[in-house]
Amino acid sequence: MPSKRSLLRTPYQVLTQGLEKLLTDHGYVLTAELERDIAKKWEWHGDLVLLPKNSFQHEIWPQFGHKLWETIADCLSCKRLARKDTIINNDYRCPQVRLLLGSDGWVRHVDNGIKYHYDVTKCMLSAGNITEKLRISTFDCQHETIVDLYAGIGYFTLPYLVHAKASVVHACEWNPDAVHALKENLKLNNVAERCIIHFGDNKKVCPHGVADRVNLGLLPSSREGWLPACLSLKSEMGGILHIHENVTTTPSSKCEDIRMKLQNRAAEAAAELSATLQGQTNMLPIYRNLNQASPGSGGATSSHSYLANDIHKFTPDDPHPSDQEDADIIKVYQTWNYEKAPSVKQLQRQEQWDSWAADVAASIRHILEELHCKPWATIVKHIEHVKPYGPHIDHLVLDLECRPVERFAHHGIAY
Ligand SMILES: C[S@@+](CC[C@H](N)C(=O)[O-])C[C@H]1O[C@@H](n2cnc3c(N)ncnc32)[C@H](O)[C@@H]1O
Repeated sequence: MPSKRSLLRTPYQVLTQGLEKLLTDHGYVLTAELERDIAKKWEWHGDLVLLPKNSFQHEIWPQFGHKLWETIADCLSCKRLARKDTIINNDYRCPQVRLLLGSDGWVRHVDNGIKYHYDVTKCMLSAGNITEKLRISTFDCQHETIVDLYAGIGYFTLPYLVHAKASVVHACEWNPDAVHALKENLKLNNVAERCIIHFGDNKKVCPHGVADRVNLGLLPSSREGWLPACLSLKSEMGGILHIHENVTTTPSSKCEDIRMKLQNRAAEAAAELSATLQGQTNMLPIYRNLNQASPGSGGATSSHSYLANDIHKFTPDDPHPSDQEDADIIKVYQTWNYEKAPSVKQLQRQEQWDSWAADVAASIRHILEELHCKPWATIVKHIEHVKPYGPHIDHLVLDLECRPVERFAHHGIAY
């Protein structure tokens, strides 16, 4: 008797054997070339299976017509089949998905308690953003107004409404198919009354002066959304921007230099943490100015540093820092864990991420000051590594706090 284990077949084996039968029934054999063309993995979306783009491309398959897709669906026990292609690089970032079997591409997902309903042939769900969706779900946005500049089907709009309990989300989206799905999803999750959809190009439709928080979830870069995002922030109070970007890091030969530099900074940050922020939580970020000379080196401190403790000294009459200084103004170092020494590679990446964040912070401050004709402070609160996007490319989200300087000078902001 064959063992139970030997009777169990993987879905891939079931599929291969099913296709082998189809071929032999028509007088063909399953060659190694054909076997390579059979999908080895696929995505499940309820009763719809999404095949990878490079599968079933061999010229032999079309002659089986509908029978091929029915055989595959039988083997995989699904009702509908679709195949992926590359995402069309148009403005809507539509997925190129072709329905092979079934009458429509609408699928449902439940993700962290949130229901998403969309047509796989028209909209995409970025599975890679799951960690960022989970992070948003942990935010407390009660009494906050959020602007989501690239709302899509609600990937981020929904966690803001369902879990972060935002008062209202202004969702901007220009793809009619995505807006259709977004409306469905708002209803499905019973949050439609707290979401205002602005259909169109966010550069035109985004509301001004309303936001406590703005989400800029566009890849490879959300730079084109920086101006609408700044316009949408509350002009008297400012708020937080969550800026997505694929950041390229280049391996450097000066590994040791970087390690030393970062370790020195970490030591300074730790010293500063205990010396100046006593009594506050150790999760607090420390704002460093790279122009500032290290203690005891005798160097001069920049007159425009935005250190956490100096911020109240900055008055609206102070001259603005020059562009040259902008790039180095703000750095955040989170509590350094000496137990787990980071690798040289991690240090290099961190260095480049920090430098990217400092550049973005400087540019956004510049935009805000141009818009409002008064000094603003932009503070790097956190850099979230969402996922590696390719070799030396990382999907990052920068949490950037943006306030008119007078908020710090006259009211004080608790960090
Ligand atoms: C790929 S989705 C990203 C959605 C989600 N933020 C994520 O990261 O998974 C980007 C969405 O932004 C929309 N979009 C791109 N540029 C836009 C613009 N200027 N105004 C409004 N919507 C835009 C696209 O139609 C698309 O639905």
